[in-house]
Amino acid sequence: MRIGIIYTSISGNTKELALLINNQFKQRSLDVYLYSIEQFACHRLDEFDAIVIGTYTWGNGEIPDEMMPLYQEFKKIDRRNIVTGVFGTGDSFYPHYCGAVDMFRDLLNVKTDLSVTLKVELLPQQQDIARCNKFVDLLLARFENLILH
Ligand SMILES: Cc1cc2nc3c(=O)[nH]c(=O)nc-3n(C[C@H](O)[C@H](O)[C@H](O)COP(=O)(O)O)c2cc1C
Repeated sequence: MRIGIIYTSISGNTKELALLINNQFKQRSLDVYLYSIEQFACHRLDEFDAIVIGTYTWGNGEIPDEMMPLYQEFKKIDRRNIVTGVFGTGDSFYPHYCGAVDMFRDLLNVKTDLSVTLKVELLPQQQDIARCNKFVDLLLARFENLILH
């Protein structure tokens, strides 16, 4: 099983979360690849069995500009055989808390086999490690389910 984590981060919160999730996959000895969005070519989605997207939220609950090509790529495809998950950091001071996670969730739910989402308030804390663990477990459970059917 080949897993790709693609994230964006400006001030480091989402990067920290991406690293925690990456570690959880690695602890299970899985074949996981971590990319910042600048390192990832969108046409490569088909090389992965599972894609995990990490994003902060910008503007008024919006997806950051640099993630739009990836969002548009998912709009074009129809891949119910790719298991996906989406995580993000945000600030609940804003009316649309982690709005970018919600937008990816809604799209991936239609275009892929979306298994799990995770929202974290700003910088991940100790208690978020257990949530990352659960995130990875749920994604893997969905993958196993897909294989069996
Ligand atoms: C101009 C601006 C707009 C933002 N808008 C939102 C928003 O609508 N919803 C939200 O949950 N967080 C919002 N945030 C908070 C960021 O998403 C949050 O700080 C995030 O953790 C940053 O991630 P990063 O450290 O990975 O760059 C905004 C931050 C800035 C500076």
